[in-house]
Amino acid sequence: MHAKIVLLPGDGIGPEVVAQGERVLRAVAQKFGHSLTFTTCPIGGCAIDEFGDPLPEQTLTACRDADAILLGAVGGPKWDDPTAKTRPEVGLLKIRKELGLFANLRPIFVSPYLVSSSPLRPEIVAGTDILFFRELTGGLYFGESGKKTNPDGSETAYSTMIYSTHEIERIVRLAGQAARGRKKRVTSVDKANVLEVSRLWRRVFERVMKDEFPDVQYENVLVDAMAMYLVARPKSFDVVVTENMFGDILTDEGSQLPGSLGMLPSASIGASGPGLYEPIHGSAPDIAGKGIANPLATILAVAMLLRHSLKLESEAAAIEQAVDRVLAQGHRTADLAAGGPSIGTTEMGGLVLAELA
Ligand code: NAD
Ligand code: IPM
Ligand code: MN
Repeated sequence: MHAKIVLLPGDGIGPEVVAQGERVLRAVAQKFGHSLTFTTCPIGGCAIDEFGDPLPEQTLTACRDADAILLGAVGGPKWDDPTAKTRPEVGLLKIRKELGLFANLRPIFVSPYLVSSSPLRPEIVAGTDILFFRELTGGLYFGESGKKTNPDGSETAYSTMIYSTHEIERIVRLAGQAARGRKKRVTSVDKANVLEVSRLWRRVFERVMKDEFPDVQYENVLVDAMAMYLVARPKSFDVVVTENMFGDILTDEGSQLPGSLGMLPSASIGASGPGLYEPIHGSAPDIAGKGIANPLATILAVAMLLRHSLKLESEAAAIEQAVDRVLAQGHRTADLAAGGPSIGTTEMGGLVLAELA
């Protein structure tokens, strides 16, 4: 097959991990006889520096025209001035919104070889296999917001969490469908004991599950309790569906089940058009430029890209198996090495390539 791939390396460790993702994608394409074309575009802080815009028009145009997009990360201290005209993160939110990528799939899978990397006890994390559906184009990130200066000189600011029926229905449907191919259980996470918007979320969730997925079990869990259950009994969850910010926070927490943020990939998909694939982590300014970032989240995002956007299941599985074999051999980047011997970003990418070959 032929496909057009847009690479958005971004800032910090973004370019370091995307370089490894690109290597793996090229190798898989060659091995399985596919022809891919690559275009690299600026997004985030580097795009602000070059164009004064975190999502330049030509980046958005190239993305619309792509079959799939691989992104590293955006942001960093250089662009953190709270009074700045714009921010790197605006570019990321805008591309998600513009491409209609309302569903962010974040699998949290603990490979048997990573059980001992978790700060949690082995018997708690072993066997964890959760698929989060984080709603990505609504909720607290996209509701009305504003700020004003009060007569006494103090300031007031607000952000609102807002959802409408159809936004909840479509993400719940994707979660329900995914559960059918798994253990047939969906957990919806909300704050319905306090928030009106969560009470709507819960009503719509329950209706869709009852009417359209009678074969799938479902439950509601409040977000504060979920933060605790996720580390107390992660194995009891199958598919989880939740609001934008709740999903953002819970999945960073969940990264400690396999032991590192550097292990979790994600897929952002919409009703049609290209999907966007990225690690869930950020630009990691504390380690950027050192060549020690873990590229496996990005490499696993490449597997999701092949599976979801290009429908190349064997190719996706080949990458996941190669990653697992490298871990089985005991190779670790610093984030997973617990102070023991570790390898760098490029070496880790090279080991995955060798396993693929
Ligand atoms: P972060 O995810 O960048 O880093 C948190 C911690 O995890 C750091 O100690 C970092 O070194 C470590 N880490 C992250 N990825 C790693 C990897 N692949 N290998 C090894 N260690 C890794 O979060 P932060 O420090 O809170 O945010 C830094 C910047 O990234 C901010 O500007 C933020 O807005 C941005 N950010 C961007 C994205 C994105 O582009 N999708 C996601 C999250 C944060
Ligand atoms: C993520 C990030 C982004 C988010 C930020 C950088 C806008 O944390 O992709 O998880 O909150 O969605
Ligand atoms: Mn996040």
